Amino acid sequence: MCGIVGYFGKRKASEILVDGLRRMEYRGYDSAGVACLHDGVIGLVKNPGKIKGLREKVDGSDLDSMQHAHLGIGHTRWATHGAPNEVNAHPHLDASGHFVMVHNGIIENYKEIKAGLSQHGIECVSETDSEVLVQLIAYCYKDNLEKAVSEALKKVKGTYGIVVLTDKEPGKLVAARCGSPIVIGLGAEETLIASDASAIIPHTRDAMYLEDYDMAVITADGVKMFDLQHAPISREVTEMDWDIDAAEKGEYAHFMLKEMFEQPSAIRNAIRGRLDFEMGTAILSGLDFSPRDTAQINRVLVVGCGTSMNAGMVGEYAIEEMAGIPAEVEQAAEFRYRNPIVTPLDLVVAISQSGETADTLAAVREAKHKGAVVAGLCNVVGSTIARETGRGIYLHAGPEIGVASTKAFTCQVAVLLMMALKLARGRRMPRHQGEELCRWIERLPELVEKVLAQNEAIKAVAEKYADKQNAFFIGRGYLYPVALEGALKLKEISYIHAEGYHAAELKHGPIALLEETTPIVALLNNIPGKEKTMGNAEECKARKAPVIAVVTEGDEATAEGFDDMIVVPDCPPCIAPIPTVVALQLLSYHIAAARGCEIDQPRNLAKSVTVE
Ligand code: M6R
Repeated sequence: MCGIVGYFGKRKASEILVDGLRRMEYRGYDSAGVACLHDGVIGLVKNPGKIKGLREKVDGSDLDSMQHAHLGIGHTRWATHGAPNEVNAHPHLDASGHFVMVHNGIIENYKEIKAGLSQHGIECVSETDSEVLVQLIAYCYKDNLEKAVSEALKKVKGTYGIVVLTDKEPGKLVAARCGSPIVIGLGAEETLIASDASAIIPHTRDAMYLEDYDMAVITADGVKMFDLQHAPISREVTEMDWDIDAAEKGEYAHFMLKEMFEQPSAIRNAIRGRLDFEMGTAILSGLDFSPRDTAQINRVLVVGCGTSMNAGMVGEYAIEEMAGIPAEVEQAAEFRYRNPIVTPLDLVVAISQSGETADTLAAVREAKHKGAVVAGLCNVVGSTIARETGRGIYLHAGPEIGVASTKAFTCQVAVLLMMALKLARGRRMPRHQGEELCRWIERLPELVEKVLAQNEAIKAVAEKYADKQNAFFIGRGYLYPVALEGALKLKEISYIHAEGYHAAELKHGPIALLEETTPIVALLNNIPGKEKTMGNAEECKARKAPVIAVVTEGDEATAEGFDDMIVVPDCPPCIAPIPTVVALQLLSYHIAAARGCEIDQPRNLAKSVTVE
């Protein structure tokens, strides 16, 4: 989704800004721009399309000749209000040309504000909700930028992360947040501002995260923080622990490929120090429940979106089966609006790789409001959901740059299994069973390595199906969420229309669509329900649909009569989602690669969905 970067220091601002935008490309965007201030002049370059185009436009422009412009702002825009063209791209200038601003989020009452400004003769030139905010700031300005910003923000409904500058006060940047992340990097004699740590880590590890309704004023004297009433506040400086190499794709053709191959080490990091073999349980300091607390949990509600919701469904099954606690997974946007029944005896687990997904964050707030115990399961350290839940578990998977989530899913499932184990041991699971589960969780990296070793074989299968337009994924039990996730992966990166179904559900409608050009990926692992899924795969075959059978090692006979086979290692049902999904990730990746798709940044998609 949209990305913000700001710079104040001694180096050439335009270069740092464009490089920062390049590092945030993975978030998804369709236009970009930068503005710098030098000698009382604001220079602005915007471009619909990719950063490469912006860079070419900046080279040789007024901005490029601003060798001594040491402060500026930049933005990548993922269009919401208005087409992705140059006028709608950020930064936005106000009508007087003295104020320039970048904005993430949505100004919900922008039409009202726009009409009010119009009555004062101030007209917007773009179709965006964002432009009205810079016009409003300019309108509110008397002699102090931060005062104008807070005046304007008090009139705004919606979400924002902004950075603004004016040639009337040339040595100042003002940033503010409500619902859209802003992190401030504190370097040696320089300050960086961004919506995403990836733009900052090449320059400094020391960071401050703005809370909602915080405002930061950045000058040559450093960073001062205020609330919207201008009362000074302070925020803790934390160290960002991500490695810069982790955010580069190195020898891999795509971040997605790199991240799939990182899964053994990512899972190792996710489980490190969290398995207690002696007691047959998991140590999750973010879930420091006593057995008495655990016994009192009435229900576990898991909320998330997309891949995180699919992982949550595996968690739902594991928690019910192992701990005997009723569990439900729910799409976060539904949860936030349908007035769900939540009680203080419910444990709500919010799952989010980015920790910034708007609907999941809103679900967290709704659950907290209703008194539930809320835990976050996030990858991005310091993210809003991680901070707002207060208690929770980090994945430690490292940065996930590819828009298609891969290592986050497998680490989420690994952590959910440990959560189920911990809850189960506090309730009804005997120690020996807990020990056995610990051993299987410990083996997850090895099981994933076995699947990755079949990369070439899976690629050969993928290439046979690269010309198809539709596909179905079917599974049962623990493999039902994997079928959903497999279909999601395929559709988002290859643009093949793919649907995941419970194997039994196919004949309640979707079977009408089957024909010889519609492949079925049947998850026929050797787990309970396999024979029934085999029957469903036979039904597909009888209707001439080609079947790719995913089977357990040693049980290859199951694939006889089907068209293609992918083999995954033998393991218990609750463990099977992880190696199986890795096979489906590789399948999707190679199909998308054969179709020449833009794998890391699929069209229309954003890495982090910070609007509803
Ligand atoms: O950052 P989150 O885990 O909250 O993101 C949720 C979804 O937007 C995300 O999983 C999305 O579905 C991915 N593109 C799937 O690959």
